[in-house]
Amino acid sequence: MSHTPKPQPDRAKRRKDPPIAHQATIRAFQRRLIAWYQRHGRDLPWRRTRDPYEILVSEVMLQQTQVQRALLYYEKFLQQYPTAEDLAKAREPQVREAWDGLGYYARARNLQKATQQIVTQHQGKFPRDPEELTKLPGIGPYTAGAVSSFAFHKDAAILDTNAARVLRRFFGLTPQQRTPRFLWTVARQVTPKGQAHVFNQAIMDVGATICVARAPRCPQCPLRPVCRRGKTTTPAGSV
Ligand code: ADE
Repeated sequence: MSHTPKPQPDRAKRRKDPPIAHQATIRAFQRRLIAWYQRHGRDLPWRRTRDPYEILVSEVMLQQTQVQRALLYYEKFLQQYPTAEDLAKAREPQVREAWDGLGYYARARNLQKATQQIVTQHQGKFPRDPEELTKLPGIGPYTAGAVSSFAFHKDAAILDTNAARVLRRFFGLTPQQRTPRFLWTVARQVTPKGQAHVFNQAIMDVGATICVARAPRCPQCPLRPVCRRGKTTTPAGSV
């Protein structure tokens, strides 16, 4: 009698999604982004630290604020609250004042709550894995991936609007494939092991400075020779 094994939920869950492209294309994507970043990446203060608290502060500021504006607040905020412990015990009106001008004040309230939980529930030590980080207030999958990869060099993927645009164009994703769920699957597939910390900064920078929404600068793009969209654009980078 033939025996059909029952589907195993864990195994089914772990089943790999089909790769979005050939390995050689994915490797070219990774190599080109990283090589470009090493020469042209933006020198930003939160990229000179591996302190998870400092990185979290920057990422929370950058959730809804442009880089140039966040730069005006970042160093000052850290001077006032240099550690997670300092922010955890700060008085709320003062935190509000330090955040004033950045807007979306709920971010600062959540940031303070997150530091309080780190102090009381994690003995002052930041969780390293994205799954643990997302349990803290105000930390979604993007911010968790950023802190985990930048501070702890974990193999964590990120997906923000800039990175999503690069993925969408480079891999020529169809409208049906442009869901956050699918884009996260692609992001995980293409994040190189051991290099997520530099790859993640690189894809964000290419998205923010070259593969921009309205008029992408394809002639300047390191991905152009292998990009689905880049191949079809004119030298002026229009379309
Ligand atoms: N936007 C969000 N995170 C960023 C980072 N680490 N660098 C530049 N822009 C960002």
